[in-house]
Amino acid sequence: MNAPADPADTLRASLAALLDGLPPKSAAGAVERLIANYRGATPTDAPILRDRADVAAYAAYRMPATFEAVRSALEAFADAVPGWTPGSHVDVGGGTGAATWAVTATWEGTRPVTVLDWAEPALALGREIAAANPALRDARWQRARIGAALTLDSTDLVTVSYVLNELAEADRAALVDAAAAAAQSVVIVEAGTPAGYDRVIEARDRLIRAGFRVAAPCPHSAACPIVPGTDWCHFSARVSRSSLHRQVKGGSLAYEDEKFSYVAATRLPAEPAPARVVRRPQIRKGQVLLDLCEADERLRRTTVTKRHGDLYKAARDADWGDAWPPGTAESGDPVS
Ligand SMILES: C[S@@+](CC[C@H](N)C(=O)[O-])C[C@H]1O[C@@H](n2cnc3c(N)ncnc32)[C@H](O)[C@@H]1O
Repeated sequence: MNAPADPADTLRASLAALLDGLPPKSAAGAVERLIANYRGATPTDAPILRDRADVAAYAAYRMPATFEAVRSALEAFADAVPGWTPGSHVDVGGGTGAATWAVTATWEGTRPVTVLDWAEPALALGREIAAANPALRDARWQRARIGAALTLDSTDLVTVSYVLNELAEADRAALVDAAAAAAQSVVIVEAGTPAGYDRVIEARDRLIRAGFRVAAPCPHSAACPIVPGTDWCHFSARVSRSSLHRQVKGGSLAYEDEKFSYVAATRLPAEPAPARVVRRPQIRKGQVLLDLCEADERLRRTTVTKRHGDLYKAARDADWGDAWPPGTAESGDPVS
């Protein structure tokens, strides 16, 4: 029997097929309109994704990146709750469903999935693309407006991906409260910008006040050690560029790096990483510099040199966003 297809490949093929029927200039034009819209004032009173052209452009242009960002966040979360698999999933502000694809790429099997969004064209296209993913075949795509009246059915996992920044403060609070009331675990992903990080921290504080513990990326559930306004915690996920990307952005790079901020919080017993690598490691001759966020609520730079033996080898392999040291719940066998 053939191995099941990687959802990332299936998603890429479905998105490419979506553009097949469209003249290349019209897809690129729709992307440019969309980028201009997103540069305008958000939150807006009505959906930005208004018709199929908008949504096809969003899906083809942004979905591979939001999918990879959410997948990275979910992998870090999964490492902190080994053995756990969500039995049900609700994706709020799910649009065309990037986070639902990321959940199926992180945990095998099928589960009831509900996608909520106020933009009907996004839900319709999401449903269409999801037909290619067996784990999403029975997903429910439902119209819902995020606001004070939002309530969610009880579920194991709620994802909120690239949504908070489109909402007014009261709606952000209502969404996080509704997620905390309904879910065992909540994963929130935003753009890796100072504004995205602010939204993540605001949600993180709210989830902790509701009784959740942070499972990733933070090694603890105390306050973030970053002094507000001086820096922002974010990570990076590599995304292959589509031909549409190359048309819109020019150049011939085969990939780009999507920057994102996130928090995964849970009521489950979790094993957060003892420390996390919060910048790209700097590899020098005979040494690696690692910037770590540590369990004692500090940011610290550590230097791992050749004298550290196996730990040095591990440091050379360490990536921005990884748990440190290896050998903890996140990284497999201990390194002596
Ligand atoms: C940037 S898109 C992200 C879509 C998807 N979660 C992803 O990661 O690709 C933001 C989504 O939030 C939805 N949204 C924004 N404000 C909303 C509201 N007040 N109620 C419901 N959905 C909303 C939009 O329609 C859109 O689908």
